[in-house]
Amino acid sequence: MSKFWSERLQATEPYIPGEQPNNTNVIKLNTNENPYPPSPKALKAIQEATDETLRLYPPPTVNELRETIAKYHGVHPDQVFIGNGSDEVLAFSFMAFFNPGEPILFPDITYSFYPVYAKLFNIDYKRVPVRSDFTLPVEEFFQSEGGVIFPNPNAPTGLTLSLIEVESIVNQNPDQVVIIDEAYIDFGGQSAVQLVNQYENLLVIQTLSKSRSLAGMRVGFAIGDHQLIEGLNRIKNSFNSYTLDRLAIAAAKAAFDDEEYFQDVRGQIIHTREQTSKRLHTLGFEVIDSKANFLFVRHPHVDAEDLYLQLKEQNIFVRYFNKPRIQEYLRISIGTADEMEQFIIALEPVLQEVKK
Ligand SMILES: Cc1ncc(COP(=O)(O)O)c(C=O)c1O
Repeated sequence: MSKFWSERLQATEPYIPGEQPNNTNVIKLNTNENPYPPSPKALKAIQEATDETLRLYPPPTVNELRETIAKYHGVHPDQVFIGNGSDEVLAFSFMAFFNPGEPILFPDITYSFYPVYAKLFNIDYKRVPVRSDFTLPVEEFFQSEGGVIFPNPNAPTGLTLSLIEVESIVNQNPDQVVIIDEAYIDFGGQSAVQLVNQYENLLVIQTLSKSRSLAGMRVGFAIGDHQLIEGLNRIKNSFNSYTLDRLAIAAAKAAFDDEEYFQDVRGQIIHTREQTSKRLHTLGFEVIDSKANFLFVRHPHVDAEDLYLQLKEQNIFVRYFNKPRIQEYLRISIGTADEMEQFIIALEPVLQEVKK
């Protein structure tokens, strides 16, 4: 703590990102990245965009990429906002749509950036407890005072609400903004994007970090009513007009243009997730039904933190959250089929060693 820190900074408890080890000789299953490279077309687009035009600012309205995303999702370009990763889009949304003194609702077990943004922007919030099986009690999100936000699929559980359940929450909060964080939607859930023309209070946020293998380029976007999008643009232009660089714009556009590669990669991850889930189940783990690119698991006879540490010693990184209600669980991102095979092979002797 420094005396020079503002009161706001002193009151802030920053988000702690997952470890990014320097060593490349690790099996990295801890930050829900995509184990496959970006589309070759995206890599080529980055190379082609690496030219003398980098001396110029990027287009502040990101029109071309907005048109690409709008066409892909069947909406008008004025219904699309693009930011530097969906984290930035989320942060702008907290600033644009939520108010101090009007508590917003999110689940108690969820993406841990939400309370960080709420505190940073002085927005009150209530955590809605998920049930003991981690499912969301949908009705508890009705009639919020200040708005609602949750990921679908949820993180770190991977559990998914149906479109009808999502719609009921949107419908029951007509005067508040409901944000659906669809970071993992491409791995099996039903997207709420198809509802945006029906509900002026619905904002859907997605990212290219997961299903399109572009976490390193930082591109996320929101789709919603044009007035919500205008609100986000006003926040952005009060903060930094050029949040996306030229290379990120080129990569993102090319990634959307390569549908075949996208379908192939996401299909492989879904397949590997199901295979891994079965293997873990056979090893005695309880595996939550995930529609994301990770599994949330617990072993009744093994301490989760011990297991996390033992795996780390073998250069296998998974995510352990030392937090109430989930200290017995590990979150395991889905790697390639080969990485998951190595993970399972490494797991067997470790399980023997750390059994309680
Ligand atoms: C639920 C959820 N939302 C948003 C993000 C942020 O993704 P990005 O900023 O890379 O788009 C993540 C990243 O792990 C996440 O788990």
